[in-house]
Amino acid sequence: MDRLLWFRKPRLLNLLAGWRDLTALVALRASILATTSHLADYADGIADQAESVAFDYAFLLGELQQISEAQTLERAHYYIERLARSIATVRTTAINDINLNRWKEYDDINTDSLWMIDRRDGSGVHSAGYWGNFVPQIPNQLMRRYTKQGDWVIDTFAGSGTTLIEAQRLGRNVLGVELQPHMVEYANQAVEREPNPLAIVARSVHGDCTTINWQALLADYGQCHVQLAIMHPPYFDIINFSDDERDLSNAPSVEDFLGQMAAAVAQVKPVLQRGRHLAVIIGDKYMHGEWVALGFRTMEVVQQQGFQLKSIIVKNFEDTTGKRHQKELWRYRALVGGFYIFKHEYIFLFRKK
Ligand SMILES: C[S@@+](CC[C@H](N)C(=O)[O-])C[C@H]1O[C@@H](n2cnc3c(N)ncnc32)[C@H](O)[C@@H]1O
Repeated sequence: MDRLLWFRKPRLLNLLAGWRDLTALVALRASILATTSHLADYADGIADQAESVAFDYAFLLGELQQISEAQTLERAHYYIERLARSIATVRTTAINDINLNRWKEYDDINTDSLWMIDRRDGSGVHSAGYWGNFVPQIPNQLMRRYTKQGDWVIDTFAGSGTTLIEAQRLGRNVLGVELQPHMVEYANQAVEREPNPLAIVARSVHGDCTTINWQALLADYGQCHVQLAIMHPPYFDIINFSDDERDLSNAPSVEDFLGQMAAAVAQVKPVLQRGRHLAVIIGDKYMHGEWVALGFRTMEVVQQQGFQLKSIIVKNFEDTTGKRHQKELWRYRALVGGFYIFKHEYIFLFRKK
């Protein structure tokens, strides 16, 4: 949104009702033209949030233009009523707060299966410093699509707390589990440095997600279910996160890694509310001259536990700066070795039946 204007709802609705009463297109167009030339004057600011409505200036202008360009009065009335409905009523589904009466305005919500994210969000306490953390846009998109404000989210591999930070900003409660105590502390300190106006719970807890008792953790907050689970495991041994043998990056083999993933999913399943979503973010790896489809194999592990696959999203790896030499080296190796360089990872989306 580039310029947000707040209007008192009754004022805008009166304006639209007046247009709805006009019986000639010419008069309607003249009235709209007169209004759009000083649209900002209708904005009153937010006196009372419930009685006010916000519009992106350019978007609202576009809506008014569509009304005035309608070929028939009937069509113009249809557009007026649609706009009035978007002001007067909020229509959401059970799983998020997206107002379907204003769906056109959510142009920053991804609905395509290819996510090209070229620059990571580095706002506030977000940092790219933890090697292997995901871009904040991933948990942000997932929580806006699959949770409502006040819902509960769990992150089984919390790491530096990217999900926690985004959840707190979005007004979702979140519990994370992380095997490395210093990263638990790091994540908890990070969220504490961010504003928390909605008094959201955002905590990382030390533990092994393959054995963690989520029920007990949630019970401390009077909860028994969560509405979204996010799992961003190590991509097997691509990055070694610790010396702990329970660390999935230390799994002796791909089969062991998949076994640990199965155990982590089994811990999540009882607390995830039926009909709600589980997201697994994972990439593939190359081993002994062979592409190991870690992503698809993990996907099957989750499906075997009765989850319904809803989407496979392919996300690009953003280009890191200052690694030109390495990039050239990999390109050379790829040309010699007859393989392709990994430039993507997956976000597998499942629904609990
Ligand atoms: C890919 S990173 C997750 C990064 C995280 N999404 C972030 O943005 O910082 C995987 C994390 O899982 C942790 N981990 C590995 N095995 C674990 C286990 N058994 N239980 C909990 N955490 C584990 C690692 O220490 C590492 O921090």
